Amino acid sequence: MAVNMKGKSLVSINDLSLEEIYQIFDLSKSLKQKRLTGEKHPLLEGKKLGMIFSKPSTRTRVSFETGIYELGGIGLYLGPNDLQLGRSENIYDTAKVLSRYLDGIMIRTFSHQDVLDLARYGDIPVINGLTDLLHPCQVLTDLFTITEKKGDLRKLKLAYLGDGNNMAHSLLHGCSKVGMDIVLATPSNYKPDETVVKNSLENAKYMGSKIEILEDPVEAVKNADVIYTDVWASMGQEAEAEERRKYFVRYQVNPELIENAKDDYIFMHCLPAHRGDEVVDEVIDSKNSVVFDEAENRLHVQKAIMALLM
Ligand code: CP
Ligand code: NVA
Repeated sequence: MAVNMKGKSLVSINDLSLEEIYQIFDLSKSLKQKRLTGEKHPLLEGKKLGMIFSKPSTRTRVSFETGIYELGGIGLYLGPNDLQLGRSENIYDTAKVLSRYLDGIMIRTFSHQDVLDLARYGDIPVINGLTDLLHPCQVLTDLFTITEKKGDLRKLKLAYLGDGNNMAHSLLHGCSKVGMDIVLATPSNYKPDETVVKNSLENAKYMGSKIEILEDPVEAVKNADVIYTDVWASMGQEAEAEERRKYFVRYQVNPELIENAKDDYIFMHCLPAHRGDEVVDEVIDSKNSVVFDEAENRLHVQKAIMALLM
């Protein structure tokens, strides 16, 4: 039975039920098919999405903007210097005012609390397009992509190598929600957030799946169906890049490490990739890599999210 998600915000995958997640996937699949065959699907005719970006973006920006357009609506790009928010107007006033003009807001910013506040004070759905803590739209897309490539998520194991960052956090939430095994291998000083781990362990217990947090990358990739990595220094951490590299070199996804994985593993990366750091060309350009299908699916999955919430 369909679950009514209209008016809700999407701040974290941890707030979604299993039914809601699969409803997003079902609609993503159907919208992807319609786009392929050229069938119009104006589910958000005349609706307006504000897109607040305090950080740069290729995929999120272009997929949300073209996505709302394909649904019959319009997207407004609101960059770091466009809103009074950047000149210290507060979140409360911004949320109240934008709610009078728009039908939904997508926001990419630093502080996760700002997104929680925007959703709390606004009267329209707020979609998290990445914070320092989480990247839910990316991971919903990743799980959708894995179902396309590998089928039943409950039979699979994902290995994430690298920084315990926003991607690691949303992957923990997402995999544990759908009952997929996940193992993280991170340096000891770059472990994931404790609250995220705690919540994910509760989800995994409920679903009967496993979560492992390791330091050894070789151990992590053994028997993995999906190998996932992300940049070692995220947006806003550019000054730490050199320092971080020292700890992360042994987490590089390269042919030697991959020898320990299943033959039919798939390689995933949210992109942008720093080729030569967290992954090498031989892996990201190999037949096992699905990174561009993954990037394409951002469009279909976010269209489904917008259509369901707005
Ligand atoms: N993966 C992702 O969110 O990419 P962008 O930073 O280009 O939006
Ligand atoms: N961890 C990365 C993800 C980019 C999509 C960052 O926050 O920069």
